Amino acid sequence: MPPLERHALLRPISREHHEGLLFCWQIRKALTDGLDPKVQHRIAVEFYHRHLLPHFGIEEEAVFPVLGAHDQLVEQAISEHRRLTRRFLSTQDPARDLSCIEKELEAHIRFEERVLFPRIQAVATEEQLERIDRMHGLLAGH
Ligand SMILES: [Fe+2]
Ligand SMILES: [Fe+2]
Repeated sequence: MPPLERHALLRPISREHHEGLLFCWQIRKALTDGLDPKVQHRIAVEFYHRHLLPHFGIEEEAVFPVLGAHDQLVEQAISEHRRLTRRFLSTQDPARDLSCIEKELEAHIRFEERVLFPRIQAVATEEQLERIDRMHGLLAGH
């Protein structure tokens, strides 16, 4: 679903998905160009703390509760957050971790945009959408 079909109050989060896909593209390019995986992994960890962790936080605190903690799609999304977090914080094999991050983050974002967010948008109340937007504003610092 393109961002324009997204409810206005969910668009800031969909924009972050777009930034996440760009980040995946940058990793792919860095690996193809043969850049130092250790340095690239440090850059990825920075991206994780600055952008991804707050994004996961908003999703888990405000977006996913719309469907409830026992929803299967929500369970899948949360377990993917955990797996991605382990990949970002791993220090085992930077090249392999980056390659997994790139694939798993892209798949996670596409799952949220194509499957999870349309479901959430279909059932969310206006109050729930406003809460998501408010929380996003607070964490984004504006
Ligand atoms: Fe997510
Ligand atoms: Fe997301």
